[in-house]
Amino acid sequence: MKAIFFEKYGKPEEVLALKEVAMPVPQENEVLIKIDFTAVNDYDWSFVTGKPLVYRLMFGLVKPKNPIAGMELAGTVQLIGSKVSKLKVGDTVFGDISEFGFGTFAEYISIREDAVIIKPEKLSFEKAAAIPHASTLALQALRTIGKIKQNQKVLINGGGGGVGTIGLQLAKLSNCHVTGVDSGEKLTMMKSLGYDEVIDYKKTDFTKTNERYDLILDCKSNKSPFLYLRALNPTGIYVTIGGSLSTLISIFFWGKILSLFTKKSLQILSLKPNEGLDEISQLVIDNKITPKIDGPYPLEDTARLIQYFGEGRHTGKLVIKVRA
Ligand SMILES: NC(=O)c1ccc[n+]([C@@H]2O[C@H](COP(=O)([O-])OP(=O)(O)OC[C@H]3O[C@@H](n4cnc5c(N)ncnc54)[C@H](OP(=O)(O)O)[C@@H]3O)[C@@H](O)[C@H]2O)c1
Repeated sequence: MKAIFFEKYGKPEEVLALKEVAMPVPQENEVLIKIDFTAVNDYDWSFVTGKPLVYRLMFGLVKPKNPIAGMELAGTVQLIGSKVSKLKVGDTVFGDISEFGFGTFAEYISIREDAVIIKPEKLSFEKAAAIPHASTLALQALRTIGKIKQNQKVLINGGGGGVGTIGLQLAKLSNCHVTGVDSGEKLTMMKSLGYDEVIDYKKTDFTKTNERYDLILDCKSNKSPFLYLRALNPTGIYVTIGGSLSTLISIFFWGKILSLFTKKSLQILSLKPNEGLDEISQLVIDNKITPKIDGPYPLEDTARLIQYFGEGRHTGKLVIKVRA
């Protein structure tokens, strides 16, 4: 089968190559999936570049433990292991497989059956590959942790990326007034997507304006927790899904202490992969939300796409069509 293979960490275009490799054989609790579409995520950039270095504890200290990146897929079950009980050959499936490993930048993958869920017939493979990771991050941040309510004033930092573009649509289902923070050309796209206000983070620091928010979803935390606190209304909730490690540690530490003195709240989301994905799929099928797709691009372009992602030039989700 064809796969985007790498044996050492480095710049995507220098270390990734399209190769012919052996087909994976499913273990007793695994299924072999023919992949139709996959998508690029933050993890892929970190996995391929080996940065930040702390990620190497998970990915392999000196070189990658797994030579194929990619963690989202939509495809069809081709073979099942002897102990597989929920899936059968021919089932169409999709999901964020990151809890169980990587390897979706390839024509086939063998993975635990609980890494994926059944894809509804009315959901296209392309959209199915675009939603698992980003949309569940957005849903769990806004609803599970952020307890979003009707007509709130919401801000999404990193609003033009995969999570932000879905987060906006989820917030709009609750009739919220939504401000998106990002940069450059993405701001125009964000306005057309439905953001009520947009802020260019390269020109304006949203924590230093006079605006206060009921709920902040942050995809790129990199400031002092006290600045985030300042940007909240008296009972506001700030939820971060990612950012610099030192900022996340600081938010974790100060969030606990500050909760003793204020009704404002600083929270960190720990993603539960695929939780809420059924609900999101139904919203997509009903045209209540639409993933913003950049692509689809061919598998051969994967190295370029991961570089493009790392440079923050994509808008929404970068989707790869594995088969021509
Ligand atoms: N909590 C968990 O369990 C968990 C699990 C997996 C992943 N994650 C995190 O989830 C996030 C993924 O979000 P995503 O898929 O939406 O990423 P994305 O598609 O890369 O979007 C992030 C957006 O933020 C913008 N941005 C960069 N720096 C910024 C800044 N300082 N202020 C405001 N915006 C900024 C980027 O644009 P430019 O760079 O062009 O400016 C980009 O448009 C990552 O932070 C990842 O670490 C969390």
